[in-house]
Amino acid sequence: MRRILVTHALPYANGPLHFGHILEAVQTDVWARYMRLAGHECVLVCADDTHGTPMMLKAQAEGITPEELIAAVAAEHRATYAGFLIEYDFFHSTHSAENREMTDRIYRTLDASGYIARRTIRQAYDAEAQMFLPDRYVKGTCPRCGAKDQYGDSCEVCGATYSPSELIDPLSVVSGTRPVERESEHLFFRLAAFEPMLREWTRSGAIDDSVANKLDEWFDAGLRDWDISRDAPYFGFEIPGHPGKYFYVWLDAPIGYMGASLALARRDGLNFDSWWGPDSNAELHHFIGKDILYFHTLFWPAVLTGAGFRRPTAVHTHGFLTVNGQKMSKSRGTFITGARYLERLPPEALRYYFAAKLSPGVEDMDLSLDDFVSRYNSDVVGKLVNIASRCAGFIARGGGRLAAELPEPALYAEFAAARERVGALYERCDFAAAIREIAALADRANQYIDAHKPWNLAKDPARAAEALAVCTQGVNLFRVLITFLKPVLPAMADRAASFLGQPLRHWDDVTTPLLGSPLAAYEPLATRLDSKVVATLVEAEVPAAASTPAPVAATAPAAAPAAGPKAAPAAPPAEITVDEFARIDLRVARVVAAEFVDGADKLLKLTVDMGAEQRTVFAGIRGAYAPEQLVGRHVVVVANLKPRKMRFGVSQGMVLAASGDGAGVFLVSPDPDAAAGMAVK
Ligand code: MSP
Ligand code: ZN
Repeated sequence: MRRILVTHALPYANGPLHFGHILEAVQTDVWARYMRLAGHECVLVCADDTHGTPMMLKAQAEGITPEELIAAVAAEHRATYAGFLIEYDFFHSTHSAENREMTDRIYRTLDASGYIARRTIRQAYDAEAQMFLPDRYVKGTCPRCGAKDQYGDSCEVCGATYSPSELIDPLSVVSGTRPVERESEHLFFRLAAFEPMLREWTRSGAIDDSVANKLDEWFDAGLRDWDISRDAPYFGFEIPGHPGKYFYVWLDAPIGYMGASLALARRDGLNFDSWWGPDSNAELHHFIGKDILYFHTLFWPAVLTGAGFRRPTAVHTHGFLTVNGQKMSKSRGTFITGARYLERLPPEALRYYFAAKLSPGVEDMDLSLDDFVSRYNSDVVGKLVNIASRCAGFIARGGGRLAAELPEPALYAEFAAARERVGALYERCDFAAAIREIAALADRANQYIDAHKPWNLAKDPARAAEALAVCTQGVNLFRVLITFLKPVLPAMADRAASFLGQPLRHWDDVTTPLLGSPLAAYEPLATRLDSKVVATLVEAEVPAAASTPAPVAATAPAAAPAAGPKAAPAAPPAEITVDEFARIDLRVARVVAAEFVDGADKLLKLTVDMGAEQRTVFAGIRGAYAPEQLVGRHVVVVANLKPRKMRFGVSQGMVLAASGDGAGVFLVSPDPDAAAGMAVK
């Protein structure tokens, strides 16, 4: 028995899980479930990734504390993963006592071993927001090609890379003001010290060769020291001995794998060192997307080594998911959240489709909704489930018990023997090939039934035993196939096990057929997907603008990139119909009172007169307007927005405002002749 610890990348705790996250979790879960079914001890841990500047700003924008944001998102994430049947042994948070303990311990060891250097650097600083600005929070004109509105690290138009200070007319995304340069001392991890170890590790079989080639490019470019500190204000762990300095989120994020393991070990009385210690005999497998390769194949093994821990056995890297051939994007409506899917469709259909798409390489994968529907309906409902449903009735009529022997043991043996091949494909993450093998076997099982026509045999009382024999063969072939699919379709496999009257416990159980035993009544195992329902996955949410719940239109720093280098370039918004637009009740309102909100430095509390009633609305415009400027002004309010409970009270609507990247916030005002209460059409 092998001992295996598995992880997938920790999702950021500042937004919902989308299909890319689900793809990764499904890949990891299918692999882990296969390993368990094959008899190994396999533990799956994960956590939310909770630290960093985007988290801090998002919480501020919502007028809540980062801890409140983390708690709300964690609940959502857990529910979504559970909905997709991802089976964690522990799902933790990087903002946890265990993670702080591990991060401190690792940092102290690295420091004591001489792997931490101190250097003063100059960095963009927002004097108004009083914070240092990550490169992605500075925007301006590209110094090479002159393209406007480019991030502080690289130009999306010409591909130039530079530092924020080189931008022409730089502006802070946070306050809209021009950043200045400031000096500060930072702590650096000396990555280059680990180059010989890394060169060897990357060729040890831990990563795919195609990925290792990518790494060679990085080696050739030279490994640079890695800045692991950030100045306050920052949401993260303060660095011991350096008040006002915090660990960079990407240091404590992978350590979150250990934090989650530590919490699991303490909960269940397990041995943490048996997974992570230098003498561990367990395997350690990480599943990640190709965008975070550098962190997992260079920094992470180096940090582990420097701190005296074991290195990963394997880092499995997948490509990116596109939807209907397009990058997932909110404005195109191709940003599908896991929760949205679960409201409409069964989790296992998507698990099946993703599995059918996943192979070991880093190629991107496309989810075509039409292909999704036809693939699931034809493979799972049409072929697989059909085998059981066709046979079940005849067995029930023949006494409800399987025959005592198989009419074609050789055919059965062939199916059972496929377990070696299919198992090997699961293990090497070639689920697509595994599914192809299984689908081909399902075709053969159906051909067998078609050739022997139990429906004809059953008509003739003298041939009832033959009918039972054919169906016994069919049910046994089905049992092999559903065992092979159990890692992908765990709930369906459990229902099939109830029908078969025997749990599907072990991969190798298929070597012996089920004979002479009673079957339970057959209940449909799967139903066809309705393509009309599937199509609603990509219809824009109504109202379109409110797809990310924010208390006020102007509140969220819309220009703030969500997660580092992955923010999508702006695209034209998806179309909505007149009817969809008409559902948004826009009203003219007059501000009768405006006040600061204690503890929320972005928010103003407005009392607005809507003609027939007064309402309280929280608006994220404190940076742009003083309360006294607002009283008496006309504004436009979304009147039928679901009231939203915030820490400071309930917001009963939303005030419209215009904002561009870094350009500030401007209230939208109707012509002075408009009166409070009028509908805006
Ligand atoms: N928090 C970091 C990971 C820290 S791991 C110590 C992060 N979070 S993320 O939420 O942006 O991404 C989580 C995982 O989802 C990553 O492995 C990423 O590659 C994956 N995906 C995000 N978008 C994706 C697609 N469109 N397609 C497939 N996977 C994608 O990065
Ligand atoms: Zn450029």
